[in-house]
Amino acid sequence: MQRPDYRRLRSLFFRLDPETAHNLTLRLLALAARFSPTRRWMAHLFDCRDPRLKSEVFGMRFRNPVGIAAGYDKNAIVVRALAALGAGHVEVGTMTPLPQRGNARPRIFRLPGDGALINRMGFPNAGAAAAAPRLALLRAHPTAARLGVNIGKGRDTLLEDALSDYREMLRKLHPYADYLVVNLSSPNTPGLRGLQAPVALEGFLAGFMENRAKVCPRMPVLLKIAPDLSLEEVDDVLMAISNHSLSGVVATNTTLSREGLRGAAHAEAGGLSGAPMSARSTEIIRHIYRRTSGALPIIGVGGVDSAAAALEKIRAGAVLVQVYTGLVYNGPGLVRDINVGLLREMDTLGIESVTALVGSAA
Ligand SMILES: Cc1cc2nc3c(=O)[nH]c(=O)nc-3n(C[C@H](O)[C@H](O)[C@H](O)COP(=O)(O)O)c2cc1C
Repeated sequence: MQRPDYRRLRSLFFRLDPETAHNLTLRLLALAARFSPTRRWMAHLFDCRDPRLKSEVFGMRFRNPVGIAAGYDKNAIVVRALAALGAGHVEVGTMTPLPQRGNARPRIFRLPGDGALINRMGFPNAGAAAAAPRLALLRAHPTAARLGVNIGKGRDTLLEDALSDYREMLRKLHPYADYLVVNLSSPNTPGLRGLQAPVALEGFLAGFMENRAKVCPRMPVLLKIAPDLSLEEVDDVLMAISNHSLSGVVATNTTLSREGLRGAAHAEAGGLSGAPMSARSTEIIRHIYRRTSGALPIIGVGGVDSAAAALEKIRAGAVLVQVYTGLVYNGPGLVRDINVGLLREMDTLGIESVTALVGSAA
């Protein structure tokens, strides 16, 4: 059966405001996933199963290395659909303790000439209490995709009280997650990135991990970091990660930089994602891999829009990769295209597992 051509659909979607287009996509995905025949049809078109794609990361099996980045499914509405599209993992969120509306619209902007987006969403989400029953259902009837839950602080929570928001999120949502991601790197929640600074981060992680030891000692906890940290600052972050035995790092969130834009730099405020930030996020991945001698699992994210871009991140040291902006520009077949491309590369090199590629060019 032929895969539908995304370009036509994309030209329709691109006539809509980006957030309207995204919400429409979520509705269509949620609808398609409600019925098992359509789920099976999606899986038939898009899923790519091969034992060589499997890996074991933070003590659990991932069926393939390609996941969906946080922000795509903030409220865990379409996890089942994304799993049917072949995702190896889905990171839902960022979720906050209370529902919040985020910044005023418009707050997502396309830069088509650059394969990029700028967003200043500000964590709009339905809150932990609304997400919990949906997550519980996913736990009761799991998909083939691992489920990450990305947590943040409420917009009105003072920075000095941020830890209590994150602890509350840990307490409320840990029963449903395969892994948790502490997001301290969104550029759209004022002051949040300041928690990545050495003293603040030490105190924060000490408090958070102490709570985790009491509540869910085996739950993998990852930190999502900004690409705008200098490599020296990344070293400080790695020190804190090691001091508090986190399970891994998600590198990276969106950037405040406007470097690498081919078109006229977009004047909108917010975080830039997509192709122009790919090289910077790969540089950070490579740096982390080298510094930790490959011992710290890295989820690589930022501008992955093809198998080649995914391979670059995996070779630099990412054990898993994630996509968001690439999906907007390339459509739902991207996950499969990456997995097929990885298998081709493994055929060429005569290797039996994708894990053999991790860090091969670090
Ligand atoms: C519209 C939009 C919303 C996002 N929301 C979140 C979020 O809520 N939490 C988060 O950790 N990252 C969020 N991100 C960042 C992505 O997870 C990812 O780190 C970043 O976009 C780089 O990947 P990409 O180039 O594949 O998009 C968002 C990105 C976009 C484009």
